[in-house]
Amino acid sequence: MTLRTVPVPRPAPPRRSGGRDGSSWRVPGALVVLSVVPVVAGSLRLLEVVGGPQLLPDNPRIDTSPAPVVVHVVAAALYAFLGAFQFSARLRRRRPSWHRRSGRVLVGAGLLVALSGLWMTLFYTGAPGGELLWTVRLVVCSAMVTSIVLGFTAIRRRDIAAHRAWMVRAYALAVGAGTQVFTQGIGEGLFGTSELSTGLSISSGWVINAAVAEWVIRRPTARRARRGRTRTSLAGSR
Ligand code: HEM
Repeated sequence: MTLRTVPVPRPAPPRRSGGRDGSSWRVPGALVVLSVVPVVAGSLRLLEVVGGPQLLPDNPRIDTSPAPVVVHVVAAALYAFLGAFQFSARLRRRRPSWHRRSGRVLVGAGLLVALSGLWMTLFYTGAPGGELLWTVRLVVCSAMVTSIVLGFTAIRRRDIAAHRAWMVRAYALAVGAGTQVFTQGIGEGLFGTSELSTGLSISSGWVINAAVAEWVIRRPTARRARRGRTRTSLAGSR
């Protein structure tokens, strides 16, 4: 009888989510890129408010009352850029205290973004987009405030899943400004700059982000999906 050695498949090395390959920075990196255009536009507007050159189209509402825009732009830049790093699994795992500390700053910044947006919606008259965009902005600002408050109260009672879901929703609504660069560009390019076209194209940026947020919240994580696949194949091999 001859004995043949049967090659035993070696188990694959354990894959750590957000490993050394830099994949854990892909999501924060993409989120930072998404917000670059509105943050740069906001910085140019701030430059103008403090007496610098006028590089953007005239906005009479800001000329009359610049304070809310200053608060809005500074808070939005902080929320968009710092907030992007809350989505790095590696950073959360390795520096939990950093996630907690920046999270507290972000709660304040996020509330300032939404409340200054709400203030401008209510008190700036004649913004483009008509009643449709006015109504959508009221809904978005209120939903953002609600999401931040619910995300914060969820983590106080250690409900991580609810905390994650509400914070994903709040962030997605805030960075709607980035998606609107595309939706407004395409919408107005195709359908002109009527109130309806502007209202619809800007609003659709928030609708897209809200849909992506709900998908991210409901999608099984890679680890859970892998575990599910392993169980299925084990069951199949019995
Ligand atoms: C990261 C997030 C955000 C960024 C970077 C951002 C950026 C900006 C900038 C740069 C402006 C000034 C536009 C100009 O110079 O004419 C602006 C205006 C405004 N934003 Fe935001 N924004 C953000 C989120 C939000 C959210 C969540 C709302 C809530 C609805 C909002 C509501 C408004 C309103 C009402 C105005 C005034 C529009 C006008 O009267 O022309 N923004 N935003």
